[in-house]
Amino acid sequence: MPAQTFALAAQDERHSSIIADQGSVTPVVLAAMEGAEDPRLREIMDAFVRHMHAFAREVRLTEEEFELGVDFLNRVGQATHDAHNEGILFSDAIGFSTLVCLLNNGRGGATETASALLGPFWRMNSPPTENGGSIVRSETPGPALFAACRVTDPEGRPLPAVEVDVWHASPVGFYENQDESQADMNLRGKFTTDADGRFWFRSVKPAGYPVPTDGPVGDLLRAQGRHPYRPAHLHVLAYKPGYKTLITQVFVDDDQYLETDVVFGVTQHLIGGYRRHDEGAPPQADVTPPWYSLEYTFVMEPGEAKLPKPPIK
Ligand code: BEZ
Ligand code: FE
Repeated sequence: MPAQTFALAAQDERHSSIIADQGSVTPVVLAAMEGAEDPRLREIMDAFVRHMHAFAREVRLTEEEFELGVDFLNRVGQATHDAHNEGILFSDAIGFSTLVCLLNNGRGGATETASALLGPFWRMNSPPTENGGSIVRSETPGPALFAACRVTDPEGRPLPAVEVDVWHASPVGFYENQDESQADMNLRGKFTTDADGRFWFRSVKPAGYPVPTDGPVGDLLRAQGRHPYRPAHLHVLAYKPGYKTLITQVFVDDDQYLETDVVFGVTQHLIGGYRRHDEGAPPQADVTPPWYSLEYTFVMEPGEAKLPKPPIK
């Protein structure tokens, strides 16, 4: 927009922006933003300003605290790069990502949902993998896991040809992009459901892990006396035109952090039955006990198939 047009658009002669006192700041700012053409932008910014101002009033924010807050946000931006998204991590650590997820799934938050937060480690272009194949792409110690999953619609009808991305941390708690000892795309794969809505694969049992704590979010967790751990889980992103993209996680039921996930991602629905096997014939010749199996059904709701912006490359 040319500078001239911008200046004229910003000037609204119906409102004076001269501030009388602290109490008049909010209505003056709200009035100055009324001219936004996009009604959704108007609604969001109106609510945002009202809540931010109410927040400052409620806690009687001091100037030092304001500076600290701005510095925190600046550090969140500075800590974000191609391989790490501190902004999402902050949103996760204050339960905001889960709130947005629950508001937008399960009939607008009315019912339990199969969805969970995306987290900062989804990468596009996971290697396409045949059903039954392994997503262990470099030597990864830990008990074998055999996952046998199904994707259905809300009526329980199988959904074929769903593209399913799967990713998880290693048994020592690192995603491949955080760990030089793992091959590129280790513990990541893209599957396609068969005619019966099934996909299945071999991996290793994931472990819980701490979220990155070397940035401002780590400072916040320490200041709040919170541990940084997530319970072990398997991430899934299921995509099929005509259905709302399902982003979810299936948690390991015996994990010590199941009840205290640092990013508040666990719902009852998402606790998987990871069965431990100590005896009996293993599913593949090279497997030694204990090994684990997981059966899980994912439900996709009709809707728009859209991929999120990958948090990392
Ligand atoms: C994850 O599950 O990958 C994750 C989610 C939130 C913060 C950090 C990691
Ligand atoms: Fe994760």
